Amino acid sequence: MEAVVTRSSQPQFNGGYPLRRPRRMRRDAFSRRLMRETRLGPEDLIQPVFVLDGEDRTEPVPSMPGVERMTIDRLVHEARELHALGIPLIAIFPVTPAEVKSEDAREAYNPSGIAQRAVRAVKDAVPEMGVMTDVALDPFTSHGQDGLIDETGYVMNEETVEVLVRQALSHAEAGADVVGPSDMMDGRIGAIRSALESHDHRNVRILSYAAKYASCYYGPFRDAVGSSDNLGSGVAGPGKDSYQMDPGNSDEALHEVALDLQEGADMFMVKPGLPYLDVIRRIKDEFGVPTFAYQVSGEYSMLKAAAQNGWLDERECVLEALMSLRRAGADGILTYHARAAAEWLREEG
Ligand code: PBG
Repeated sequence: MEAVVTRSSQPQFNGGYPLRRPRRMRRDAFSRRLMRETRLGPEDLIQPVFVLDGEDRTEPVPSMPGVERMTIDRLVHEARELHALGIPLIAIFPVTPAEVKSEDAREAYNPSGIAQRAVRAVKDAVPEMGVMTDVALDPFTSHGQDGLIDETGYVMNEETVEVLVRQALSHAEAGADVVGPSDMMDGRIGAIRSALESHDHRNVRILSYAAKYASCYYGPFRDAVGSSDNLGSGVAGPGKDSYQMDPGNSDEALHEVALDLQEGADMFMVKPGLPYLDVIRRIKDEFGVPTFAYQVSGEYSMLKAAAQNGWLDERECVLEALMSLRRAGADGILTYHARAAAEWLREEG
């Protein structure tokens, strides 16, 4: 008669042999495949893109080897290929020329700004491709903060939310399917949701960056969009602590998600990714809502640098990191490796 096995059972032996041999299931590819609990496919990936003004041009991002900023015509071409690879959504990040940055970030809601033109161009050319925008003011402020500042440098909440609402509406007008407020102001989800409703954009989804940490892993991104010099430090870190969350907290992440859920968000982002797996799991368990992870620029650059030095296998490590984010509870992952991962996954069948 077999012993009933519970998690607290002592190992059972049968005449000196282990009764349970977990390695049996790991022995062959067929049984490893059968018992795999988590899947990763191109449909789980969101590709971020840095968009430049001008035509037929790309620019490398020095701190993110393999990532290029590109003009809108190139982006349209890229979007077609990403769609063919099965990637459902791209996230647009404009690289704003210094001349149009200002204290009041008015370029953020310019109907012919780079982000707005990029959305229109992609939705015209590849309507089936989901397009998401970033709602935050850092690419447009002369000081590099995500909002408008007072004379002490403090980011003002209500004044910023007003501009974020105009920005989100301009993205919706341009045809964005998803708007992604990544600014961490209080009350912005509710304000954006009611503006979308009253302007006949009721089906525009809000992906709220509900749990966005004040992380040093954003450094390469700030180089990519050209906000780091303005922030006053080449490598990111202090400066956004009065709105982004303390890396020591996770109850606070649940609180943020609860608020944004009440205010009308459809999807929730945890950012960065791999250092915050526990936060993803807690959100998924507590709310059961569509939960996403942002594998940020610093995570990309770490993997890339190690791979370029021959210290890690890029493909294996990237796919493992993405799988781990899925296992932690992420429904999808925004990652600079999206295209490469989709190609690798296709090769594996
Ligand atoms: C800010 C924003 C940031 C990122 C995307 N939008 C972070 C920041 O500068 O605070 C970082 C993404 C990355 O590192 O890949 N609105």
